Amino acid sequence: MRIHYRSLLFGLLLVTGFFHTSLGQTTASQGLIADRAMVVSAREEASKIGVEILKQGGNAFDAMMATEMALAVTFPFAGNLGGGGFMVYRMADGQIGSLDYREKAPLAASKDMYLDKDGNVIPQLSTLGILASGVPGTLAGIFEAQAKFGKLKPRQVLQPVIDLARNGYVVTKNQAESLKNHRQIFIQVNGPNTFFGKEIKAGDTLKQPALANTLERIANKGKNEFYKGETAKILVNHFQKNGGIISKKDLTQYKAVWRDPIVFPYRNLKVISMAPPSSGGITLGQILKMLEPYPLRNLGHHSPEYVQLLVEAERRAYADRNHYLGDPDFVSIPTNQLLDSTYLKSRMGNFSFEKASKSADIARGELSFSESMETTHYSIVDAEGNAVSVTTTLNGAYGSKVYIEELGFFMNNEMDDFSAKAGVPNMFGLVGTEANSIAPGKRMLSSMTPTIVEKEGKLAMVVGTPGGSTIITSVLQTILNVYEFDMSMQEAVNAPRFHHQWLPDLVNFEPKAFGTDLLRTLKSRGYLINESASPIIGKVDAIRVLPNGKLEGGADPRGDDKAAGF
Ligand code: DON
Repeated sequence: MRIHYRSLLFGLLLVTGFFHTSLGQTTASQGLIADRAMVVSAREEASKIGVEILKQGGNAFDAMMATEMALAVTFPFAGNLGGGGFMVYRMADGQIGSLDYREKAPLAASKDMYLDKDGNVIPQLSTLGILASGVPGTLAGIFEAQAKFGKLKPRQVLQPVIDLARNGYVVTKNQAESLKNHRQIFIQVNGPNTFFGKEIKAGDTLKQPALANTLERIANKGKNEFYKGETAKILVNHFQKNGGIISKKDLTQYKAVWRDPIVFPYRNLKVISMAPPSSGGITLGQILKMLEPYPLRNLGHHSPEYVQLLVEAERRAYADRNHYLGDPDFVSIPTNQLLDSTYLKSRMGNFSFEKASKSADIARGELSFSESMETTHYSIVDAEGNAVSVTTTLNGAYGSKVYIEELGFFMNNEMDDFSAKAGVPNMFGLVGTEANSIAPGKRMLSSMTPTIVEKEGKLAMVVGTPGGSTIITSVLQTILNVYEFDMSMQEAVNAPRFHHQWLPDLVNFEPKAFGTDLLRTLKSRGYLINESASPIIGKVDAIRVLPNGKLEGGADPRGDDKAAGF
C-alpha cells in the first residue's frame, strides 16, 4: 500500500511537474489549465478582473479594457493611463487585425530637442521629467477596441477596476522594493508631497482615490474625458505649468490606428504580430525566417550551435531594424523585401559555425540597463475562442516619473524610443537613424511584439513580454521552445533566455542560468559574453491551446505574473 501511495505521489509530481530552474526558483513545469477562457497578466488582480468580465458575458475585447485598466491600478510601474501600446487580435473565425495606440511626439517636438548647442545628447532629458513624454494613446486604444468588438458597456467593464482603485490592493514584496528604490526620484521630480513619495510596505493596502475618480469620470463619459474633458484640462495644465510641451491640440488630435498585422509562415505555423511603428513583427519574422532552413531541433536546446544561429540571425535582423524601421506614417518601410526568403537566406550567407560575425562597423554602443524597465504584456482567450495579445508601456519604470497628483497616474518617457541623434544609443542601447528621428506627431519606433500563433489554421498561442529591445528575442525563444523543443507553455516561459541586438556586439545571458561549457565554447568562437550585468530578460505572459482544446497559461515566474481562467 505504501509503495502504491509513493508511486501515486511521484506520478502527481510528474503531472503537476515541479522542477528547479536555474533562476533559483522552484517553478511548475505546467501552467494553469482552463477549459474555456484565460487571462495571463503581470498581476493576479488584473487577470482575475479580466476573467470576471468574461464571466459576466464580455468577450476578449471587454476583458482587454478591464485588464489594461486593472494593471494601471495594481502595476503602476508599467500599467498606465499615461502611456501607450499595441494589440494584435484573432477572432474565433480566423479574422485577424491589430491596433496601434502608441504614443506620438507632441506637435511642438523637434528633431534636435534633446541636443545641446554643440549637438550632443543632453543626458536624461528624454527619459526623466516633463519633456520625456509622448502623447498618451492607451485610453484611445482600449476604447477603440472595445467599441468595435466588445459586448458590454464600458461602465460595467470599468466598475471592478474603479472599486479596486478606491478600496485598494495589497502591495507585493517586489513592488514594495521597487517603490522604495524609486521614492527619492519621485520626490525629486514631483516634490515632497507626491503620492508615491510616502513609504509603502509589502502587505500594505494601497488605495488610490485620485485614480479612482479619474477612472470614474472616464467610465461615465468615455475616452473624450481623457482627450477633451476635465482630465485633458488637468493634464495639459500640468504640462504647461511645468515647462512641458504637450498641448490641448495634441490630445484632441490623438487617434489609435488599425493596422494590418505582420503575418508570415514559419514551418507549419502562421505567425501574426505587430507592424510598424513597432519593429516587433518584422524583426521576429526576419529572425525566424533566417532560422527556418536550419535543423534547430537536432542541434539541441541551448547547444552552442543553437545559440550561435539565434545570435547571428538577431545580429542581422536588428541591423535592419535600426536602419529601416520607423513610423510608417512618416517613412516608407520595405516590409516585403525585409521579409523576403531569398533576401534573408542571403543575409545568412556569410555565417559560419566556426567564428562569430562582427557587428563593429560603427562604434560599439554601451548597453545601459541602470534604469529598471517596465512594460507589461497580457494575453487573453475568451470562451468563444477570440484571442487578444496586448503589450502596453510607460517605457521606463514609472515612465518619466512625472506623476499628476490630481489624476493619479504616471506619464510615459516614450520619447526616448526615438533616436535623439543618429548613432547614439538610447536607454536600451538601440541606435537609430533618420527613419526613427523625432518629428511632430510622429510615433517612436517600438520593440513591442504582441503575437498570436496559428497552427494548421487553428489558434495555437498568444504571447508577448516587456523588456525593451529584448522583447523580440524573448518572444522568439518562447515560440521556439514550444514548437522546436516540445516544451509546455510554462516551461517555455521559465526557460532561461539570452539576447543579442547587433549593437553593442555582446550576447547577454540571464545570470547563472547557462552552463560554463556553453559560454566557454561561445567565447572560443569569438562571441563577447555579458552574463554578470545582464538584466532579467523579459517577463513573458502567454497562453497555449492544448491538443484537447483546453488552455495552458504561462505566467512568468520572474515577476508577480499570474494566470486566471475557467
Ligand atoms: O516600445 C518599446 O520598445 C519600449 N518602450 C518598451 C519598454 C519596455 O519594454 C520596458 N520594459 N521592460
